[in-house]
Amino acid sequence: MTSTVLITGANRGVGLAFAQKYAADGWRVIATARDPAGAGELVDLVCAHPTRVRLEKLDLENFAEIDSLAASFAGQPIDVLLANGALTGGPADTFGQTDYDHWARAFRINTMAQLRLAEAFAPHVVASARKVMFFVSSRKGARVFGGVVGYMSSKAALNFVVFHVAHALKDKGVIAVATHPGHVATRAANHRGALTPEQSADALMKIIARLTPTDTAKFFDPDGSELQLITRQMNPNAFGAMSAADNATLSNELAAGHKLGTKR
Ligand SMILES: NC(=O)c1ccc[n+]([C@@H]2O[C@H](COP(=O)([O-])OP(=O)(O)OC[C@H]3O[C@@H](n4cnc5c(N)ncnc54)[C@H](OP(=O)(O)O)[C@@H]3O)[C@@H](O)[C@H]2O)c1
Repeated sequence: MTSTVLITGANRGVGLAFAQKYAADGWRVIATARDPAGAGELVDLVCAHPTRVRLEKLDLENFAEIDSLAASFAGQPIDVLLANGALTGGPADTFGQTDYDHWARAFRINTMAQLRLAEAFAPHVVASARKVMFFVSSRKGARVFGGVVGYMSSKAALNFVVFHVAHALKDKGVIAVATHPGHVATRAANHRGALTPEQSADALMKIIARLTPTDTAKFFDPDGSELQLITRQMNPNAFGAMSAADNATLSNELAAGHKLGTKR
């Protein structure tokens, strides 16, 4: 059966390369863009593969749009939810001149909308053969690096979201992972980079093709090696850490729908 991939932010950069490569590989591609009318290269892709490539409007900032897109594909399996689109540009966030409005937008698009996507499309992914949710994150969300605090913290929080999604959907067989795409010559990197968008998409598609359920909650570099997503805080032997038993109790309480901080 033909596999299906849904790609966000597919009109340019790495997202466009993903769409072109998956289409060339014979996949059914649902390519989404904020502004389909301005997505010339995607329109060309649809014309080249009219039965397999669909162009859909999706602005991640608009959660109702995420929900209605998911509803319009109800009952249709999606093998790979490729959460690629992100607010990548913006001010440098020099200390003392932080643009808090931009930061809030980065959080809404790069972090919250990614969870909303996972929630809205979980039934489609669960119903598929491959069951992959692949979130394009960034090393900048996982290491100390000056500047762009809004973008970096939105990606750091995305890494946590991926862990949350992986945990929530593990029993349903979903493989949810995060990845760094490399330093890629796109608008996000002022068209300078170590990789072309095609090289990045190619490397990430090889990772996707190899994923197994034991990979869920991992964070990958584009060469397939693993980056640190979960840190020392998870070590129950660290000084002052929550014990493994308390951690298990808390996990069970949360799974049962208890609220944090309600115990007297
Ligand atoms: N390039 C790098 O070196 C690098 C490094 C680390 C991580 N990344 C990550 O790689 C992914 C792809 O980035 P890229 O390098 O291809 O950057 P890009 O050329 O800036 O592309 C960003 C894509 O996200 C879309 N987007 C932005 N806001 C959106 C919204 N509200 N709703 C839907 N789509 C939206 C853009 O659409 P519009 O054209 O409509 O704005 C565009 O398609 C991103 O998640 C980025 O954070 C890139």
